[in-house]
Amino acid sequence: MEVKQTSSIDFPKLNYWAGGKGNALVLLHGFPQSGALWSRVWEGLSNHFRVIIPDLPGAGDSAFVSREMRMEQMADSVKLVLDTENISTAVFAGHSMGGYTALAFAELYPRSVIGLSMVHSVCDADSEEKKENRRKAISLIDKGGKDAFVKQMIPGLFSARFREKYKDVIEKQIQEACKVPGDNLVAFYNAMINRPDRRKVLKDGHFPVQWIIGKEDSIASPEKVMNQSIVANVNFVNVYDACAHMSMLEQPVELVKDLTYFVKYCYKM
Ligand code: MLT
Repeated sequence: MEVKQTSSIDFPKLNYWAGGKGNALVLLHGFPQSGALWSRVWEGLSNHFRVIIPDLPGAGDSAFVSREMRMEQMADSVKLVLDTENISTAVFAGHSMGGYTALAFAELYPRSVIGLSMVHSVCDADSEEKKENRRKAISLIDKGGKDAFVKQMIPGLFSARFREKYKDVIEKQIQEACKVPGDNLVAFYNAMINRPDRRKVLKDGHFPVQWIIGKEDSIASPEKVMNQSIVANVNFVNVYDACAHMSMLEQPVELVKDLTYFVKYCYKM
């Protein structure tokens, strides 16, 4: 994968990786990660597709934009990356917050979306309880509790078995997340709090949707995602045993296989 950059008046610096040839597949990372999240799957996927992996604004090497960031801005940053690469249509795979970004993108640019894989993600808005929890986290981060917040949240993204077996992987994720400035974390939380329900985008969208579900996921719970997996007109469902919120690290081989199958279906390959 080659590291590239682009910019505009709205986005002073957007970092992304590009590699592979053929039909475009865009991988959007979740919170509080960066494009590097996909490092265990990008090689397998770039054997089949032209893979584009942006760092969303304020993540990885992309510049921070504002604490009041909106999901639509994040979607526009992806559009700028695709325009820079002269890509007009793509299949998107969004991990959790990356799925929320992909939905905002599909709402703004419906003709650009050939398919959408919701990787441990949901299409509704935050509940009031979830918004309140995020506000509490923002207040903790603003009072200097960023590292405590990160250390408490990251282990909960993984299955119990993975946590026990791969303490080093979890530790690395914690270290990476601790490097992200507090304002950047707050920007993502504000974007998530303010995002609307986007079921309609899937209902009205003329593209297939894949739902990757971890049986032990407490964020995009299997029950909730299964309920949403009838919203689109064509739905693929892949349920992973002994997996929580992070299949790209917990079960990367299965994820490459299932994404490849879905993306090929979308492009009728
Ligand atoms: C993520 O993995 O992107 C976040 O956990 C999503 C969320 O908090 O809703």
